[in-house]
Amino acid sequence: MPFRWNPDLTHNDVTPEKRFKERRSLMQGAIVLGAGAVLDLEPTELFADTPALSNIRQGVVTLDEPQTPFEDASNYTNFYELGSGKSDPTANAQRLQTTPWHVVIDGEVNRPGRLTLEDLLKPHPLEERVYRMRCVEAWSMVIPWIGFPLGELLKRFEPTSKARFVAFETLQDPANLPGQKLPILEWPYREGLRLDEALNPLTILAVGMYGRTLPNQNGAPLRLVVPWKYGFKSIKSIVRITLLADQPVTSWNLHAPKEYGFYANVNPEVNHPRWDQSRERRIGEFLRRKTLPFNGYGEQVAHLYADMDLIRWF
Ligand code: MTE
Repeated sequence: MPFRWNPDLTHNDVTPEKRFKERRSLMQGAIVLGAGAVLDLEPTELFADTPALSNIRQGVVTLDEPQTPFEDASNYTNFYELGSGKSDPTANAQRLQTTPWHVVIDGEVNRPGRLTLEDLLKPHPLEERVYRMRCVEAWSMVIPWIGFPLGELLKRFEPTSKARFVAFETLQDPANLPGQKLPILEWPYREGLRLDEALNPLTILAVGMYGRTLPNQNGAPLRLVVPWKYGFKSIKSIVRITLLADQPVTSWNLHAPKEYGFYANVNPEVNHPRWDQSRERRIGEFLRRKTLPFNGYGEQVAHLYADMDLIRWF
């Protein structure tokens, strides 16, 4: 096994919000007092209670920028099935049932299947990749994800010659997920990529972050990470991956087509109707910084859109 997967993990193993806040104020106190003993500890040792992952190889993509603290990346989240406030997903995290977990891979593939998470991950060595993430609400983070390229998984199921798009679906479980009882979006949460975007080596399926399995609020047990697109493309808690001939329907595009395009490439020149997209607030920094085209990944992905008008296809 390339890593330790703990099927018995429950949310009781994850830090409840109250304890997290207590720890945070303890830490802040310690920092103010300059308590060396506390500062010597890795932040993950202090805050993360999800199982550690082992045998992770260093990813091909690295970033020479300070990482967002784990406590921010895991407590300031968007996961509407678990509530619409930024701290709701942490407070409701235990409502997401992640065991057992299956993922269906179907549509335009020669070898469709319904696999357990363990089977799906077995042949894929895990890597750590530090990516910039940019949310459409104009904040950003730098997160060390642990996962593997989506393209490696798709090839295993042999896409047919008709396959041009990939559609993803999140777990549908309204009895447990409080947000799915409300008409915030049409459920289940759905996202999609063009096949060449899905096969780009930057696109990964993540099972962990900061050296450990994903906290529920960050999309356990399996989520997409597409670092050159706005965060809403990075769908969480995936249960279905479908290869298609035609462009799939996506939740945010369906909800507000003038605000959320299918492509959603980070583009400082195309504003969201309600927000300026030319600048962003990196979580933990005071001043806003300029947003980079394709979130700084232009060298790796701009060629995918060489013939497209990216103002029209936003
Ligand atoms: N996936 C699901 N299933 N439900 C969601 O509400 N929110 C999206 C995306 N994936 C969302 C989702 C949005 S809007 C963002 S910005 C990112 O997840 C946030 O990922 P993070 O909370 O891990 O930073």
